[in-house]
Amino acid sequence: MRMIFIGPPGAGKGTQAARLVQRYGIPHISTGDMFRAAIKGGTPMGLAAKTVMDGGGLVGDDIVIGMVKERLEQDDAKGGFLLDGFPRTVVQAQALQELLADKGQALDAVALLEVPEELIVERIIHRRSDPSTGAIYHLKFNPPPAEIAERLVHRKDDTEVACRTRLGAYREQTAPLVPFYEDLGLLKRVDGVGSPDQITERLTSVLG
Ligand code: AP5
Ligand code: MG
Repeated sequence: MRMIFIGPPGAGKGTQAARLVQRYGIPHISTGDMFRAAIKGGTPMGLAAKTVMDGGGLVGDDIVIGMVKERLEQDDAKGGFLLDGFPRTVVQAQALQELLADKGQALDAVALLEVPEELIVERIIHRRSDPSTGAIYHLKFNPPPAEIAERLVHRKDDTEVACRTRLGAYREQTAPLVPFYEDLGLLKRVDGVGSPDQITERLTSVLG
């Protein structure tokens, strides 16, 4: 299974990806997580991405495409993958099509998680993540256990201001991927409002 999750910031891509990769036995490839790991590790790529990411803008296409290309060469991605947060521009989507075509591969599905903007800001500003396990929490909707409270991380781009910038980037640069994948007959629209269990059920029913 080769699939992609697209959707606005805070749509629940990471939450749902963690569940689906267990079901399908494929790796979860999140470009956002890869950049955050690079920043934490102080690599040159992390340093280059940090300011843009913290402000809520998009990292340059060449950097992202190079990083994903390398990742898809790894053994665990040969039989399939779930891409979360990539592609995010039409240039990235075209590069992915070429990359897969060169390997004689094709995408199976692109799931679009749809959540109205008015719900997004609240989801984002109260998100916390556990750096030890990668688990994603929400202070109201999915509260973390008290004993791990001290180690939880609040992302630098999870402020209201950066969130609005991210929504603008989504509207202008990522939303054009909807007609792009619709034209390829790959797009599956999934309502992202409801409980995480309901959304997992909707996703698995459209993805098979
Ligand atoms: P990235 O990490 O991909 O962030 P994003 O797309 O903004 O998405 P998020 O991770 O914020 O949200 P999500 O959809 O995963 O939601 P989650 O499940 O966590 O990218 C970050 C940055 O990296 C970008 O801004 C850019 O700078 C750079 N970058 C990355 N990829 C790039 C690329 N390809 N090109 C260029 N730059 C790139 O859920 C959110 C919250 O909601 C959580 O608190 C969760 O608990 C809660 N929640 C989840 N589901 C529900 C539900 N059903 N009901 C209520 N609450 C819920
Ligand atoms: Mg995410």
